[in-house]
Amino acid sequence: MKGRGIVVVGAQFGDEGKGRIVDELSETADIVARYQGGSNAGHTVVAEGRKHKLHLLPTGVVRRRRSLVCAGVVVDPLKLLGEIKELRENGIAIDENVLGIDVRAQMVMPWHREAEAQSGLGAAIGTTGQGIGPAYADATARTGLRFAEFLDEKALAQKISERTVAKTVLAETSGGKSVEEENHGLEKIMFNEYSRAASELEKFSCDASGEINEALGRGKRVLFEGAQGTLLDNTFGTYPFVTSSHPIAGGACIGAGVGPSAIDEVHGIAKAYTTRVGTGPFPTELQDELGEFLVEKGGEFGTTTGRRRRVGWLDVCMLRTSDELNGFTQLHLTKLDVLGGISKLKICIAYEMPDRRVLKKMPALSTELEQATPQYVEMEGFEQLSGEDWRFVATEGREKGFDALPKQAVEYVKKVESLVGVRIASVSVGPERGMKITVKE
Ligand code: IMP
Repeated sequence: MKGRGIVVVGAQFGDEGKGRIVDELSETADIVARYQGGSNAGHTVVAEGRKHKLHLLPTGVVRRRRSLVCAGVVVDPLKLLGEIKELRENGIAIDENVLGIDVRAQMVMPWHREAEAQSGLGAAIGTTGQGIGPAYADATARTGLRFAEFLDEKALAQKISERTVAKTVLAETSGGKSVEEENHGLEKIMFNEYSRAASELEKFSCDASGEINEALGRGKRVLFEGAQGTLLDNTFGTYPFVTSSHPIAGGACIGAGVGPSAIDEVHGIAKAYTTRVGTGPFPTELQDELGEFLVEKGGEFGTTTGRRRRVGWLDVCMLRTSDELNGFTQLHLTKLDVLGGISKLKICIAYEMPDRRVLKKMPALSTELEQATPQYVEMEGFEQLSGEDWRFVATEGREKGFDALPKQAVEYVKKVESLVGVRIASVSVGPERGMKITVKE
């Protein structure tokens, strides 16, 4: 009996609210598998009145589902331990029955953070400073440290002493001692700290790919959880203003180690407007009071870096491209409530290029996207409702589906659906579990 593979992907630039959708979908999942990215991600789940911020851990841990950090993820061991501790303090204990880390996953080590800090990419691209790019670069160059080697003291010690970047950094602090002496001392400190982390993490080691494939073979449901978003994909996103991994649905196959036929559904998560952090082209960006309103009302500050997100109108050209790259079977529109109180809503439906070409989708290059002038369709806005009112709408939605929404909000959702050409399966109207309305079939 074949199980069901469901991929959840950010349709825009990340921060679409995947955490809460994965949390809800994980209720009926047997395994939640995070397939790429690292501690650059920030997924927020609000459960039983408590806010949980996840960076590396799959969202399934909140419901104590089997949660796998797959081979395609880059793991910062100290960050991971910090996150496990924070969750424990928040009432969620994580043991080896819940969490598994693939032995093939690449580790993020201090030299990766250092390399990122020295690269200037923080300023140029607005990277999160988590060492993600250098860790993936090492993986591709075959000079990385995988979880299995990290757990092996000899291999760990050898890698620490090998890293010339680390040596250069260490040499700067050599004081009165010889560089070799100082290096040796600092390497030892690093080794002690990381081998301690290794002994704490050892119990989680597993073959996530093998486990997922076996589970699918036994008819189980596996949720593949993406981090970041389609337009940050290293190949198909707005390069070079992208991350170093592959958030797109195909990335689930590569990162988790399953064949394309294991994927039955691809759920795209799109915010009802657009946000991005870091630099890069953003044709519908709002740099006015309305933008400020959306930032404040939507709480648009990064979960990982605390940075203010850039905001703009919903861009359907982006969503059409995103659909091509992912093959969405359905979309979930999040944060619809945030648009309440704006009298006229705009949706970008095409780009006019300097040579007068009109494009319905994103051009291939960031340099072209920078030159795009958005063309909008204007919609009537809907009223600003209080949290209590939205709760009422969400409750009514259980009976009535989208018809429980204010009339103009339904029109907005229907318009987006017809412009993108993908069924919108749900809209969310608040951050808590249950503040979501599912379409009535
Ligand atoms: P990196 O992933 O830290 O290398 O950063 C590359 C780009 O991706 C930067 O513009 C980041 O702001 C962005 N980015 C990385 N992770 C996330 C995320 O989880 N949400 C939104 N943007 C992200």
